[in-house]
Amino acid sequence: MVGTTKQRDLPVVHRQFRAVRDVLLPLFRRYGIRLLLGFAALAGVDFLQLLIPRFLKSAVDSLAAASASQQSLARFSVLIIVVAVAAALLRFCWRYLIIGFSRLVERDIRNRIYGHVLKMDRPFFEKHTTGDIMAHVSNDLTAVQMACGIGLVSAVDALVMTSAAIGFMLYINVPLTLLALVPMPLLAVATLILTGRLHQRFNLVQEQFSLMTEFVRSALVSIRLLKAYTMEGLQKREFEKLGRRYVRGNIRVAMIQGLLAPLATLVGNLGMLMVLYFGGRFVIQEIISLGDFVAVVTYLAMLVWPMMAIGWVISLAQRGLTSLGRIHTLLTREPVLRERPATTARIAAEPSFRLVHLTFAYSQASHPALRDICLEFTPGVYGLTGRTGCGKSTLAKLLVRLYPVPDNSLFMNGLDVNTLSLDEVRGRIAYVGQDAVLFSESIAENIAYGLPGATPAQIEAAARAAAIHEEILAFSHGYETVIGERGVTLSGGQRQRLALARALISERPVLIVDDALAALDVETEHEVLGAIRTSGRRKLILIVSQRIKLLSETDEIIILEQGEVADRGGHQDLLLRNAFYQTMHAKQARKGTAPTGERT
Ligand SMILES: Nc1ncnc2c1ncn2[C@@H]1O[C@H](COP(=O)(O)OP(=O)(O)OP(=O)(O)O)[C@@H](O)[C@H]1O
Ligand SMILES: [Mg+2]
Repeated sequence: MVGTTKQRDLPVVHRQFRAVRDVLLPLFRRYGIRLLLGFAALAGVDFLQLLIPRFLKSAVDSLAAASASQQSLARFSVLIIVVAVAAALLRFCWRYLIIGFSRLVERDIRNRIYGHVLKMDRPFFEKHTTGDIMAHVSNDLTAVQMACGIGLVSAVDALVMTSAAIGFMLYINVPLTLLALVPMPLLAVATLILTGRLHQRFNLVQEQFSLMTEFVRSALVSIRLLKAYTMEGLQKREFEKLGRRYVRGNIRVAMIQGLLAPLATLVGNLGMLMVLYFGGRFVIQEIISLGDFVAVVTYLAMLVWPMMAIGWVISLAQRGLTSLGRIHTLLTREPVLRERPATTARIAAEPSFRLVHLTFAYSQASHPALRDICLEFTPGVYGLTGRTGCGKSTLAKLLVRLYPVPDNSLFMNGLDVNTLSLDEVRGRIAYVGQDAVLFSESIAENIAYGLPGATPAQIEAAARAAAIHEEILAFSHGYETVIGERGVTLSGGQRQRLALARALISERPVLIVDDALAALDVETEHEVLGAIRTSGRRKLILIVSQRIKLLSETDEIIILEQGEVADRGGHQDLLLRNAFYQTMHAKQARKGTAPTGERT
């Protein structure tokens, strides 16, 4: 789970205190009145519950004294009904108010987590998988919600009931009360231990369940691959194994659940035994009356539930606190890419980049992906090429500010990017990554992400420029066709061109295209580049490609080799002097016009 290693470094109590202060306290304040009303209703229910036996007692007494009339009995019945109805209404109130409170807390924290996760950057998402984050939003949040809802209710309820019942018992006879209570702490401790175990085993079951879900999810996502490799049998056996473990886990949970109820009865009966033996003697010695004896037995029975509840509440609270601590750790994690205040006024209109001895390594990598890069980009069209894994995409991602760079190593328009806000930099760059990211929405909406509020004419122009217009029209709903799970599946090349259209519509002065034209045939590629060059106010274009034909149409070509700049120059110059470029050219010339999707 997120942050588990970090947690161990901090004193647990301190961390949980801060979590409660920063996350829960503001919510308790926000919903304070609701909570107070809820507890008032809860106390009211308890009070009414304690009243009913008193009415019964009076009715029985009057019967015994033969002073009861039809009328007085009817009055007692009406009173009991009124009290029962009032208790039911109040019970509804506290449930609505307090359980509602816990749901509001859950919603607010969930919104906070989501808002926070959206702020995070690439390095964060490389460390934390979607599964990790989902675990926070589901399991940990549920634990907090349980503690704030049913946990809080049970705690208050148990406290009120215990003190009231013990109070009444003490009022009747102190020594007998103490004797009757001797076995009770045993129940609280046993429940605490057992529910602790229960939660451990329950967590295992939960984990088992998410393993199964993840297994099915990944199998369904790559179902075609599974079939192509005829892996169905193996998959089925693996799944059955997971299912067996899940059942075993559930049985282990049931075993503890099965222990709890008999244990409560046993301890309750032990208390009863004490009351029978000692209380009986007290009655014989006329220390207490028979009525008192019966009352003590009744109150003792009322104590069994609160005693179990105490153990349960403690373990709910422990679980809630642990989860809250994890959520707090996530919420206090800051993006590595520091946000700076906007400085728009200082930025010149002409885009330019300068890289000064830029060295960059991914956090988990043993050696740098880029080494000592010195480059300058002014308005124009650049080609970036090199063997696979040489660092082309890394360079593009650094320009778009997806990863942090050292101070004084990357300048945009003459300003150190570390002094600029992320929006200032990203707002000037249209970026088409190597894997086209599309949303499960209509084609028009996907393109319009580049320019919110774009008109249909603008969307079509961008699609034409990216050479995808004809293909869009061929879909049954044209531009309104929905992409992804709910709609059509696009080919890899179509996805890339759609992402390109989205970048083109944005009219940002810098355009970075990472290998997105690879799936085009040479003719179309030529047209697209022409459209890119002439469209809008675009000034600085960087195209990552392995295709000589495309590179030859750029103003300058940069060749990377193992993270370093190996050469740079015009097409003709490189053909004359660069061995790698010559080989690439020879290979592609031999094949004539490179077929669609071809890579060197
Ligand atoms: N997120 C990452 N974490 C760690 N290492 C990475 C990460 N992304 C890339 N690398 C490594 O950095 C190096 C450069 O990768 P990069 O993606 O920049 O190559 P590329 O030139 O774009 O390759 P290709 O032509 O195949 O797209 C490679 O060795 C790669 O394994
Ligand atoms: Mg790449």
